[in-house]
Amino acid sequence: MKYASSLSIVAYKVNLLLLFLPKKKMRVLIIGSGGRENAIAWKISKSPLLEKLFCAPGNPGTSSIAVNLSIDIKSFDAIKSAVLDNSVDMVVVGPEEPLVNGLGDFFKNDESLKEVNFIGPSSQGAKLEGSKEFAKDFMSKYRIPTAGYKSFDIDTIEDAERYIDSLKAPYVLKADGLAAGKGVLIIDDSQQAKRELREILTGRFGSAGDKVVIEEFLCGIELSVFVLTDGKNYLILPEAKDYKRAGDGDKGLNTGGMGAVSPVPFADANFMSKVESRIIIPTIEGLQKEEIDYKGFIFIGLMNCNGDPYVIEYNVRMGDPETEAVVPRIESDLLAHFIALGEGKLEREKIKISHKCAVTLVMVSGGYPQNFEKGFEISGASDLAGEMLFHSGTSMKEGKLVTFGGRVIALTALADGIQSGRERLYSLAQKVTYKGIYYRRDIGLDLL
Ligand code: AMP
Ligand code: GLY
Repeated sequence: MKYASSLSIVAYKVNLLLLFLPKKKMRVLIIGSGGRENAIAWKISKSPLLEKLFCAPGNPGTSSIAVNLSIDIKSFDAIKSAVLDNSVDMVVVGPEEPLVNGLGDFFKNDESLKEVNFIGPSSQGAKLEGSKEFAKDFMSKYRIPTAGYKSFDIDTIEDAERYIDSLKAPYVLKADGLAAGKGVLIIDDSQQAKRELREILTGRFGSAGDKVVIEEFLCGIELSVFVLTDGKNYLILPEAKDYKRAGDGDKGLNTGGMGAVSPVPFADANFMSKVESRIIIPTIEGLQKEEIDYKGFIFIGLMNCNGDPYVIEYNVRMGDPETEAVVPRIESDLLAHFIALGEGKLEREKIKISHKCAVTLVMVSGGYPQNFEKGFEISGASDLAGEMLFHSGTSMKEGKLVTFGGRVIALTALADGIQSGRERLYSLAQKVTYKGIYYRRDIGLDLL
């Protein structure tokens, strides 16, 4: 007994010592090139635990805080060389595609990469985003609230048509696989839904449409909840609301996101505790029961239906532009959270979240999300150097910053309330100009 207690005193002292030993500083590589990766890089660049930051391929926004590595991120071997050549300790993956394609498994199985702290799920975990059918079956198995559904392939198309007839309009059709954000169709007319169903099942989205999930339409207000998990423990990051349509008043075409606000006023403590108990905990327990290796982000797209949360979708990454609103509200050290996550010790971390409101605006190219021109010179961005200006689709051409994508710049203002955040945001936004600049004027207006 005496022996045991003196042993525990020694263990306590060793732990105490470890706490005060200088931690090894990290060499971190962020994979991706959008506003989301720029925002994550911005946050990590402030960490006292950082030795050196790399982005692959990164963008002109990340180039001022990190070393951009111009590699093809579709090539796992190119990523491996970048990691080994630069003695990278940690890899943070921004987009879903490398994860769905198995980058996490590649790191786990390669002897020379085994020690690298990889922030992102295995390919099995990434199926939560990579296969709608898998995600819905997972939710159904673990009794996670979501819309009623069935899935079909070309051999069961007649059953699918009968299922459509059994539902009320509007009809929600989802291509099973990744379809560049275009795989969800919401259709009012049942005949049209049947035509679209046939088109998807006969190749409109290639093999991503080999199966189609048809589900009930959920009425309510959407929000996004983000979780960082080591597969056992989790931290809930700030929630956000995304503005998906191109035009003010949520009119016009669906886009990747025209703005975001965090926090979301209707996501009060009561609602968030339902999200935690009914969705987050069963999701993590489900992953464990399925023996799915999951270290990374889970982005839960939710519908608030009369005060009850329902899952619309899982993503295995952060959202864009939500990240540009979420990350500025995290006051604790995200890199420290990542280190703990890699060690499977996220339980020792406490996330500190600012009470301020973040309002994010995405400036896009005229014509986005349809055809747009690029290559226009951007002026005014350098005047906002001290602000939270994140590059999405920009490039350097002959020493000048030019537009390079549909979504060009994400700008965030942090303020005491949504109204003051909006005022500050839109006054900052006026400083940026380029030919064809367009942005919504109503980000956050509905939440006042
Ligand atoms: P996703 O591409 O999965 O993000 O879905 C696109 C959008 O479709 C979501 O953001 C929702 O607005 C909408 N949506 C998806 N599933 C449903 C559903 N079952 N009921 C109502 N809206 C939905
Ligand atoms: N803004 C939505 C997404 O990142 O999927």
